Amino acid sequence: METLQLQADQIDQAVYLISQGQLVAFPTETVYGLGAPVFCAEMVRKIFIAKGRPSDNPLIAHISSLSQVRDLAREIPPIFDRLAEVFFPGPLTVVLQRHPQVPAIVSAGLDTIALRMPNHPLALKLIEGVKQPLVAPSANLSGRPSPTESSHVLEDLEGKIGAVLDGGRTQYGLESTVISLLGEHPVLLRPGAITADQISEVLGCPVLTPLAAQENRILSPGMKYRHYAPRAAVRLFETSSDCLQKISEVDKHKLLIISRNRISQEVDYHPLSPRELYAALRYADQMGYEEIFLYCDPVVLADTALMNRIRRMMEPHEAC
Ligand code: TXA
Ligand code: MG
Repeated sequence: METLQLQADQIDQAVYLISQGQLVAFPTETVYGLGAPVFCAEMVRKIFIAKGRPSDNPLIAHISSLSQVRDLAREIPPIFDRLAEVFFPGPLTVVLQRHPQVPAIVSAGLDTIALRMPNHPLALKLIEGVKQPLVAPSANLSGRPSPTESSHVLEDLEGKIGAVLDGGRTQYGLESTVISLLGEHPVLLRPGAITADQISEVLGCPVLTPLAAQENRILSPGMKYRHYAPRAAVRLFETSSDCLQKISEVDKHKLLIISRNRISQEVDYHPLSPRELYAALRYADQMGYEEIFLYCDPVVLADTALMNRIRRMMEPHEAC
């Protein structure tokens, strides 16, 4: 299959391809998503195949209007309306009870549904054009870093999907915050640009961590899967002096330093920020580095969402 690269003025063609049963990747403000209409179980199935995604990892439905929520979810609590008022459109995903008319495959068989309204004009226009919400996981092969530009999508999915709609580099570069509204208190399932403190302030109640809610694995299936680790060996440093000292022990030509600021003139360097993390990891693999020194200065260490992705990358995980 030829994968078309569509520009912003070719939304109609993207809508047409989806109507013909083809998957289309599109930009959001977080990362690129791989879209299929939520009520078309057959196309949703194609997403799992194209990505090589484990069948028990549920998808997020993307809406363009609040009127679509009632088609996707039931027993919607009042705190949803408050969060939507403040944070939609934006990088916040909420988990609610799934409406029985939504195909079970969307939620990997769970009776819940994750949904969000992306804050990106192309994403919103595409959803409007298709006339129903689009489910969209990040548009990468399962286990690879999420794509933050259209070339990343092509690197992973060229020949497997109908098209990628090009919107340049994404604004945030990390996936949305995911919060469950199923229990008495909201539970943060995945940290992102919208913080637990911001949510807590808006709702006037505590936001629990999965550990505090004691339901980690049941609540957040995606968190159990292996996250991307580059081929290179990665070492994490919390001081630049430690990092510089260790440089002398390795072959400088096979080493990449990823940090907020350049700390050595002798070694290749890629910037580190929420926007750059995934691009840096892809770069390291493309260039064939054998070692990565990841220097997390206090600013990086204080960034909960960024550190969540870095720590998961470092952890040993079960294979998937
Ligand atoms: O920013 C984002 O959220 C991007 C863009 C494309 O919108 N999407 C994204 O999708 O990151 P994905 O599929 O890569 O990650 C979805 C996460 C997974 O960790 C999944 O387990 C969780 O959301 N999730 C989806 N539905 C859920 C549900 N019903 N209950 C709990 N977690 C759910
Ligand atoms: Mg993903």
